[in-house]
Amino acid sequence: MAVTIKSPREIELMRKAGEILAKTHEELGAAIRPGMSTQEIDRLGEKIIRSFGCKPSFKNYNGYPAAICVSVNDEVVHGIPSRHHYLKEGDIVSLDAGVIYQGYHSDAARTWAVGAISPEAKKLMEVTWQSFYEGIKFAKAGNHLNDVCSAIQRYAERNGCGVVRDLVGHGIGTHLHEDPEVPNFAMRKRGILLRPGMTLAVEPMINAGRPDVVWMDDGWTVKTEDGSLSAHYENTILITEGEPEILSMNPKDDPRMLH
Ligand code: MF3
Ligand code: CO
Repeated sequence: MAVTIKSPREIELMRKAGEILAKTHEELGAAIRPGMSTQEIDRLGEKIIRSFGCKPSFKNYNGYPAAICVSVNDEVVHGIPSRHHYLKEGDIVSLDAGVIYQGYHSDAARTWAVGAISPEAKKLMEVTWQSFYEGIKFAKAGNHLNDVCSAIQRYAERNGCGVVRDLVGHGIGTHLHEDPEVPNFAMRKRGILLRPGMTLAVEPMINAGRPDVVWMDDGWTVKTEDGSLSAHYENTILITEGEPEILSMNPKDDPRMLH
């Protein structure tokens, strides 16, 4: 499938989808507390998404059984919510969610702290978050995709973290997953030329230890092989001639607005 350029009308719909998804993450983040089950998070997330008249993109996607991916500590991504899994103080929890608004998808992930967490966990969350921003500094028309990918890897590794290789970001639009693939590590080629109107889900998955991951028997949950903590930070962005627009974030939370 070719990489698509979205029309102004499509971009408007993706802005709306992103705005709703940003609010969903904000509300979920505010609700996180020790003692909450991962299923409660999923139920709440689905309720919020539907309250905006949207559908959760992930529900039944390739048979995924929930609306929100909830991945705790050494779980990297695609954790399946469970009524038997309770969050406890000191955990970190990655929430990945997607919404469909009038046929257009937005995809975003946040890692939250459950109460007070270790300095190591906090550092990992910050490195993961910052690696996204280091990457998107290069996400502008005229650059090549690999400029973004390699900047993410460089920052994460310079800070002693492991970059997951087995999962990547992606183009997004009328489908959750469109071309191109967006790795969080340098590719052998420079990748596509970025053009205004491209929409990408950039999503570093970063481990405190080694990059290697393993799949659980449930067919979904991905964990770090060495048992180290993992964090995930994702936004749907729009390529422009200048700075990319972060569609799945409330502008008031955009750290780029500070300078
Ligand atoms: N954000 C993830 C991705 O881009 C989650 C989708 S997996 C799903 O692949 F199956 F749960 F939808
Ligand atoms: Co994604």
